[in-house]
Amino acid sequence: MNLYLRLLGYLRPYRVRMAFAILCMVVYSFTSTIQIKLVEPFTSLMFSRPVTQAAPAATGQPSAAGSPMAGISLPAIPIATPHGLTSFQAWWHHWLFDVRRLVAFERLCMVILGLFLFKNVADYIGSFLSVTVEQAAMRDVRRDLFHHLQSLSLSFYHSRRTGGLISQMTNDVEALRSALAAGISNLLKDGLTLIGALTLVFLASWRLALMSMLILPPAALVLVTIGRKMRKRSGRAQERMADMTGILQESIAGVRVVKAFHMEAFEERRYEEANTGYFHAFVHLRRVSAAAKPFSEYAIILVAVAIAWLGAREIFDQHSLPPERFFTFVTALLLTISPIKSLSEVNSTIATGLGAADRVFGLLDTPATITDVPDAPNLAALGDAIVFDHVKFAYETGDTVLHDVSFLVPRGHVVALVGASGAGKSTTLDLLARFHDPTGGAVRWDGADIRGVSVASLRAQLGIVTQETILFHDSVRANIAYGVQATPQEQVEAAARAAHAHEFIARLPQGYDTVIGDRGVRLSGGERQRLAIARALLRNPPVLLLDEATSALDTESERLVQDALERLMQDRTVLVIAHRLSTVQHANAILVFDGGRIVQQGTHDELVAEAGGAYRRLHDLQFRD
Ligand SMILES: Nc1ncnc2c1ncn2[C@@H]1O[C@H](COP(=O)(O)OP(=O)(O)OP(=O)(O)O)[C@@H](O)[C@H]1O
Ligand SMILES: [Mg+2]
Repeated sequence: MNLYLRLLGYLRPYRVRMAFAILCMVVYSFTSTIQIKLVEPFTSLMFSRPVTQAAPAATGQPSAAGSPMAGISLPAIPIATPHGLTSFQAWWHHWLFDVRRLVAFERLCMVILGLFLFKNVADYIGSFLSVTVEQAAMRDVRRDLFHHLQSLSLSFYHSRRTGGLISQMTNDVEALRSALAAGISNLLKDGLTLIGALTLVFLASWRLALMSMLILPPAALVLVTIGRKMRKRSGRAQERMADMTGILQESIAGVRVVKAFHMEAFEERRYEEANTGYFHAFVHLRRVSAAAKPFSEYAIILVAVAIAWLGAREIFDQHSLPPERFFTFVTALLLTISPIKSLSEVNSTIATGLGAADRVFGLLDTPATITDVPDAPNLAALGDAIVFDHVKFAYETGDTVLHDVSFLVPRGHVVALVGASGAGKSTTLDLLARFHDPTGGAVRWDGADIRGVSVASLRAQLGIVTQETILFHDSVRANIAYGVQATPQEQVEAAARAAHAHEFIARLPQGYDTVIGDRGVRLSGGERQRLAIARALLRNPPVLLLDEATSALDTESERLVQDALERLMQDRTVLVIAHRLSTVQHANAILVFDGGRIVQQGTHDELVAEAGGAYRRLHDLQFRD
């Protein structure tokens, strides 16, 4: 309930539109009921036999309710006027029937046209307004979700599967929308229409109504059972289809590996299995769904014949039901079908929607762990040094990754981090960027704990170049100028030239306007790295966090990247995770990491001289050219 209230909170800004939508739905349901009342005069007009005497209705006198049709000499055709009419009903009766039959018919047609116009206009406006409200609310939910996702820390993303998050943004929001729509339109519109139609059914003939209530439920039960089976089986068929596409997608994307390992036959077997699975699931589904139509048609005909027979008995045998009343009864009964159908689904839609709401609001309520303290000051440019002061760190899920790490990076120095894979180098850089906060000790910037300053001002001082170059689906220019507003072309080009990227960019089909990244033009590993360097150069950060790519490049490309990196590191304070000999050779200091600890510190020459030291081993393995 709480969830539903919170969901309804998203409707608040649109309450005026919403009120109009509800009004239209009420009008729609009301006219839907009224329209059935027109069946009776229509059939009366069509099938009554004219008689030669003026009927009581012509003089305004009421006659017995449900008496057989009384016709009169032309021009007027009075229809029996029931007891206890209000003045409106009397006027209506008079206006409609106390005229020539054809004129009466024309008037009735006009009323029908007018009523249906009114009903359909209300339906249109109502649906239109409720769709606007519903979609506007979902736009707000999505905006809030995306906004919140942007504010969540990196550790949140590490603990979640990308697919799960994306499905939450799409499927769950869609499920929310359906629940909202079901709540608004189905409950209201269909509920009211159903009440109206049922009232008419009982008014027309309560005995017949009660009897139909006995026949209808078993027939409906059969149909509902078939529907449920079908849904279950179609769900299974969809799963099999997903298996099949999954294998297809993997074997296409991984074609190089499949061929290299000579696994074609294995992949074929895997696909064949999924293929057969889908075949069986689909045939299984069809066995039920093919029965659905004949079954339901026969069930409906059974019910219809049973009701017709009951009706006929009342009409011909017991003379207790005028035929035109029977028409009203049948029409009203037909009108109940569609609301009953949609109302029977409302429950499950709302249940699904509430499940989705639970997940969506759960996500919205996930607190961001890296936030500014109240009134956090902005960080001033680095004057003296960055210090890691007895830093400890453990990821939420695991063991301690950094134990008591302490080091100093004076302004303008290049400090290289080296060590085996998993030693904690990337984690150390992440702590400076406040992607995580230390669990012990502190990272200090000119003596001040970086947790005390605004995150935005800290990151504005930092340039971060990661191992994997993330390119967005956008032009080369936009990718280089990512995060820098309104950059003139000359500056972008200067950065690209400095990063040795201009030459290959100029050769691209549309130069700087070529779209790259996902679904865009493919770039080689070295080209991607040089773009990343150009991006960092343009931003011109005073402090640089650099995770050198490990991918092997050919000699020419390697020389270009190395040269670009050296330019990037010039005149900056740099923390670099080094994989290149030239980088460690030029560094002012090297930190050797092992198992989350700094085991050696010094310059390249000092460390290489220590025979049997960790650096010496690493050097012989990794940095020997
Ligand atoms: N998001 C995470 N959640 C839990 N543990 C993590 C996470 N990221 C890294 N680790 C663990 O932390 C340790 C240090 O990882 P880190 O990425 O800092 O190593 P690294 O020195 O950069 O290694 P490489 O040279 O391979 O990049 C590893 O044991 C790793 O398994
Ligand atoms: Mg790393």
